[in-house]
Amino acid sequence: MTKPTNPKTFHVKSFGCQMNVYDGERMTELMAAQGLTATDDVSAADLVVLNTCHIRERATEKVYSDIGRLRKHGNDPMIAVAGCVAQAEGVEIARRAKVDIVVGPQAYHNLPDLVAKASRGELGLDTDMPVLSKFGALPARRKVGPTAFLTVQEGCDKFCTYCVVPYTRGAEISRGWDALVDEARALVDAGAKEITLLGQNVNAWSDGERDLGALIRELDRIPGLARIRYTTSHPNDMTDGLIEAHRDVEKLMPFLHLPVQAGNDRILKAMNRSHSRDSYLRILDRVRAVRPDIALSGDFIVGFPGETEAEFADTLNLIEEVAYAQAFSFKYSPRPGTPAADMDGQIAPEVMDERLQRLQAALNRDQAAFNAASVGRTCQVLIERRGKLPGQMLGKSPWLQSIHLITDARIGDLVEVEIVSAGPNSLAAVERMQAAA
Ligand code: 5AD
Ligand code: SF4
Repeated sequence: MTKPTNPKTFHVKSFGCQMNVYDGERMTELMAAQGLTATDDVSAADLVVLNTCHIRERATEKVYSDIGRLRKHGNDPMIAVAGCVAQAEGVEIARRAKVDIVVGPQAYHNLPDLVAKASRGELGLDTDMPVLSKFGALPARRKVGPTAFLTVQEGCDKFCTYCVVPYTRGAEISRGWDALVDEARALVDAGAKEITLLGQNVNAWSDGERDLGALIRELDRIPGLARIRYTTSHPNDMTDGLIEAHRDVEKLMPFLHLPVQAGNDRILKAMNRSHSRDSYLRILDRVRAVRPDIALSGDFIVGFPGETEAEFADTLNLIEEVAYAQAFSFKYSPRPGTPAADMDGQIAPEVMDERLQRLQAALNRDQAAFNAASVGRTCQVLIERRGKLPGQMLGKSPWLQSIHLITDARIGDLVEVEIVSAGPNSLAAVERMQAAA
């Protein structure tokens, strides 16, 4: 079969973080505005965009196996590699695999031009990092579900020694106040009830004068918007203004994802985290003081180079001290070009496996305890989709727990419920009126 020129149908597949999900949605809107038709069926697409993640090794390898699979079993579509692998590996990808387009996360507004180039048989390559030109070049938001993402900030200046993000996403840049308020309004007009503000260091957002807390207070005034969330934050950017927003803004949900990575100061220093165990715990104290019911979440890395058993034990006892409502945990993965990849004391895979198991057991224990403690609580649930059972709907609690309930409510409704039981992955609730009857 010959390669389709001028593709008519396309499929965007996003890997990794929520920023990639957002970018994937924007690429979908962009290609739809060019007259292409989105399809859920990869094998039917003339153009497949793999929106990639480079944060850990397995994510990168998955891209290459996906390309292989598309070439072998698909209808030989035009393949575009977008996202952080595209940025990190650039033209290397086209050398290693047969792809038509390589486009970095700061350049995807040029996708239509690159598709045109690829249709002429040339490699469409764009890994430039222009400052924020992409957002202005994207079409307006039209139709979204009840929960929507809004990228407010991109990039990272922190240079944690294990992390590729400062290299793939570039320096920290904040989008402007007016553009963000306009996009938030457009999202609400298009059906969003909840907006999650996104950034690699979302709480570093600033327009020079105002902080993320001020932006949240502004979004609070949008009629029809019921919930505001934000992710991912760095401990050093938890401003007083943001903490005060947790105290004052009812729409700001009681949930904070604040990665710590490790509980030992020597490891934190080797990671170049620029916070200590203690300074991290003090921030949590301040947030809890203004919002006692806040659900805490974090990211953890086990097996950073040189991590001893005693240092790992400090991560376990930090977890015990904090009692996270949920968390993500990873084995350290050396990323080419990062300082930690060249450090002495790389940890054996079996040691990492064993540490990750103990860490996850501790996190699962705390998550189960948090969920069990929610039974009997009353709260609102934002209905996001249908469940498997007749009449069953699924949604999220303010604390980001997955909730299922039987209700006549529709997608996008906020329902008053009582949580009645806790399972390992989700909680059952009943509508308040039913509970009272
Ligand atoms: N190895 C393992 N985990 C990593 N993360 C970032 N870089 C690496 C790496 N090289 C994790 C961190 C970060 C999350 C998004 O991914 O925990 O917070
Ligand atoms: Fe990576 Fe550290 Fe920046 Fe987070 S703060 S994106 S872990 S460099």
